[in-house]
Amino acid sequence: MEEFQTIASLDLGSSLTKVVIGRIVGDYELEIVGMGVYPSAGIKNGAIINIETTSKSIIEAVSDAELMAGQEVESVVVNVSGKSIRSMNEKGIIAVTNKNRVISEADIVRVIEAAQNVHVPADMEILHVLAREFRVDDQSNIRDPVGMTGVRLESEVHIVTAGSTVLHNIDRSLESSNLYAMDRVLSCLASSEAVLTQGEKDLGTAVIDIGAGVCDIVVYIEGGIAFTSTVPLGSSHITSDISIGLKTTLEVAEVLKKKYGNLNPEQIDPTSKIDLPPISGRNARSIFHQELVDIIEPRAREILEMIDMDLTKSGLKSQMSGGIILTGGGSLLNGMDVLAEDVLGLSTARAKPAALTGLADKVASPEYATAVGLIKYVGKIHSMQERIGRSGMDREGWTTKVRRWMQDNL
Ligand SMILES: Nc1ncnc2c1ncn2[C@@H]1O[C@H](COP(=O)(O)OP(=O)(O)OP(=O)(O)O)[C@@H](O)[C@H]1O
Ligand SMILES: [Mg+2]
Repeated sequence: MEEFQTIASLDLGSSLTKVVIGRIVGDYELEIVGMGVYPSAGIKNGAIINIETTSKSIIEAVSDAELMAGQEVESVVVNVSGKSIRSMNEKGIIAVTNKNRVISEADIVRVIEAAQNVHVPADMEILHVLAREFRVDDQSNIRDPVGMTGVRLESEVHIVTAGSTVLHNIDRSLESSNLYAMDRVLSCLASSEAVLTQGEKDLGTAVIDIGAGVCDIVVYIEGGIAFTSTVPLGSSHITSDISIGLKTTLEVAEVLKKKYGNLNPEQIDPTSKIDLPPISGRNARSIFHQELVDIIEPRAREILEMIDMDLTKSGLKSQMSGGIILTGGGSLLNGMDVLAEDVLGLSTARAKPAALTGLADKVASPEYATAVGLIKYVGKIHSMQERIGRSGMDREGWTTKVRRWMQDNL
């Protein structure tokens, strides 16, 4: 019987710490076998600010997931997010020196290494180097140059770096939870793996994961990653605005946001009222629904305008025929897709993790896009590596798989 690989993921979110345990079945199917979630107390705007409380949340979420899955978790694939993330597009050039000038896998490795030859500040580390496209002599837009003939090979890559302290704090929190990181993956890379199809990546699509403390953005053009960024605002800022504006607790504000928050102006009855519960020193009272909407709308618009500034800066909006896919818990706010379409000027849809079996309903919410995507992302690399190993005798298959793997993951 074929053995399936079990992988556990850890999404260190600003509001919720989520753990998902899944088994990779075949190429792309993911069977969910366990999950656990616990409020995050030590994470702000996507980065750890308190190792002790973060570790407590990890331990609680992991133990719930272990119980559900009936197995122990020793290692996790963990997300990296926050404002320390930087990304850049770089080029590498090498001369093809083999006999007959036929490009080999070794040349691909060399040309990608050449592109990595960039200055990284001492307090930053490279997290990902993602191949976008290759050029052989004067021919551009090549996805796979192995076997082609040429004298000059160029690569275009997307490099993602993260603050060393941020990565160190993740490792320390895992250590305190008796876990180790089998891999560290940029949040939006993971989220997009959970909600985007290859067709959407080819068409040119942006995924925006609206979290509690940050919005993670990734743009795919012609199947490859062309742009990533993080906006240091999220849905928790809407909650705190409600709490301040209506002079109520964050807990009440959170309930009001989820229950009555709505960015569709035509769905608000100007005469309808909402009852607010009594809080210490104040009696129960009621407000017009419109008052709540008037607090939520400007902040939601500000978040989307900051996202729009980044997308505009990328210069890729005109190539995004697939439009925008919203995910993350913040995308659940009623009418967020409508306002996004208005502010960003591109067709917008919401998405939650897809192509799941097992306890799929437990993670069938946009809040789990990162946690589910982390498993899918790493599963893709591992299954590719495994098959590369297994099919060593099948020369034709071997090269094809090595190339795919390198293109996706180097
Ligand atoms: N139905 C809903 N309507 C409006 N907002 C919602 C709804 N459900 C969840 N949210 C908001 O989504 C946010 C949580 O989303 P998510 O779990 O994706 O964030 P996170 O991963 O913890 O944070 P981050 O990615 O920013 O670090 C919270 O701010 C929550 O209020
Ligand atoms: Mg998140």
